[in-house]
Amino acid sequence: MLILTLILGIAYPNFCLAQYYINRPSHNFPEFKFPSENKELPIVFEWKNIQYGFPSEQERQQVLRNGRYNPDSPIPIDIDVYYPPNGGPARHFVTTPRFGQGVPYSLAYVTNVQRENGSEIQAYPSYQWHSSHGANCDGLTSVYRVHIDACGRMWILDSGEIEFVQHCAPQVVVFDLATDQLVHRYRLPESSYKAKVSRFVNIFADIRDPPPKGKCNDVFAYLADPTSKAIVVYDVVGQNSWRIENKFTYPDAKFGTHTVAGESFELLDGPLALAVTPLGLGMRRHLIFHALSNELELAIPLDILNNATKWQGGLSASLSEFVSLGRRGVQCASHAISRRGILFCGFLDPIAIFGWDIRTPYNRQNVQLLALNPDTLQFVSGMKIVQRPADGREELWLLSDRLQKIFAGTIDYREINYRVLRCDVDDLLQGRGCF
Ligand SMILES: *[C@@H]1O[C@H](CO)[C@@H](O)[C@H](O)[C@H]1NC(C)=O
Ligand SMILES: *[C@@H]1O[C@H](CO)[C@@H](O)[C@H](O)[C@H]1NC(C)=O
Repeated sequence: MLILTLILGIAYPNFCLAQYYINRPSHNFPEFKFPSENKELPIVFEWKNIQYGFPSEQERQQVLRNGRYNPDSPIPIDIDVYYPPNGGPARHFVTTPRFGQGVPYSLAYVTNVQRENGSEIQAYPSYQWHSSHGANCDGLTSVYRVHIDACGRMWILDSGEIEFVQHCAPQVVVFDLATDQLVHRYRLPESSYKAKVSRFVNIFADIRDPPPKGKCNDVFAYLADPTSKAIVVYDVVGQNSWRIENKFTYPDAKFGTHTVAGESFELLDGPLALAVTPLGLGMRRHLIFHALSNELELAIPLDILNNATKWQGGLSASLSEFVSLGRRGVQCASHAISRRGILFCGFLDPIAIFGWDIRTPYNRQNVQLLALNPDTLQFVSGMKIVQRPADGREELWLLSDRLQKIFAGTIDYREINYRVLRCDVDDLLQGRGCF
């Protein structure tokens, strides 16, 4: 199957690109018809506020006193799940970046311990990796999102900054989850970021030689830097990285106001969502991405993206290679693509999860409502597709965090504010409900 894909990709590049259509609707399209019954996603974890665990009660008291822990400050934004291949309990990872002070650590796993306001989390890989708050660049300064690959490794994106003070270079840190050992680290060179402007928030690691046949060595990682409005490509084998910044990575001012459940905030952000089209679909492979503050869904072929030479021309480089897939008329945050090519995204309005088959035009008929819940799906900031080793089925995992309430200052810690939800991908697509 893999060989077939490669042959098709090389022999018929034009045919493959023609699988994308360029839509130019004259007005916004979403007046989606809702199914008669609302489709619910089951909740796996929920919090009123994030419940941090510490190595000792003394440490908790000390960081509460010195301001390194303020229970009202942390906001979870990402979720990823690791199923050990030989069985054993799933591990659920969440991130709580250091947007400001008062976040004791920014990468954690969820424990079975139930506390007053939700499940307790514990630092990953250890408390010491986080406790210097930017003083030790061999640790982790501020993790925004992670990506667990098919080889059992977690790709961790550390922005290196706290409130735009660049304590350390942004870095990609990779852990082997079977052993919890550091297996790779790449510190971005100064040419790949803009200190005081960049904020790296998302990573997608494309494993081009996946198991069982591949060796997991041939990897390109894509990094989203929405504040400097760029995508960074990291060539792991070549130990090189380059920035892509042009009119397609820019926000659209018309989508700078984000309204969720009647509350609005302003954010003029570039690229946020990243996912590559899967191997084995017989298509020329693309990175599908969008800016948070934009309605456009975009694609760029991986063979162009992965060639550093193509990007030497700066703002005007390779512009004709970008494919404008369509417009949604509203923002959505993180997205994820299943192995059969269904792209999922959580729309701000309606507050719902939509699915789209990437081989069809991105339009009203093909972008379908899959789950609707105006309470539990407020701002889906983290989204992953995870394959269960036991039966090979895929699951969609989401983290919603009511970001609008944080910006508006209306967050109420007596309510549930943060949720992790899950559904079997096939069950969700077939409308069977989630089990
Ligand atoms: C990269 O792009 C350059 C410029 O278009 C081209 O000459 C070169 O062959 C490409 N390299 C690969 C590996 O495709
Ligand atoms: C739990 O939430 C309540 C209500 O907001 C708050 O007063 C309390 O401090 C929280 N407890 C912890 C351990 O975070």
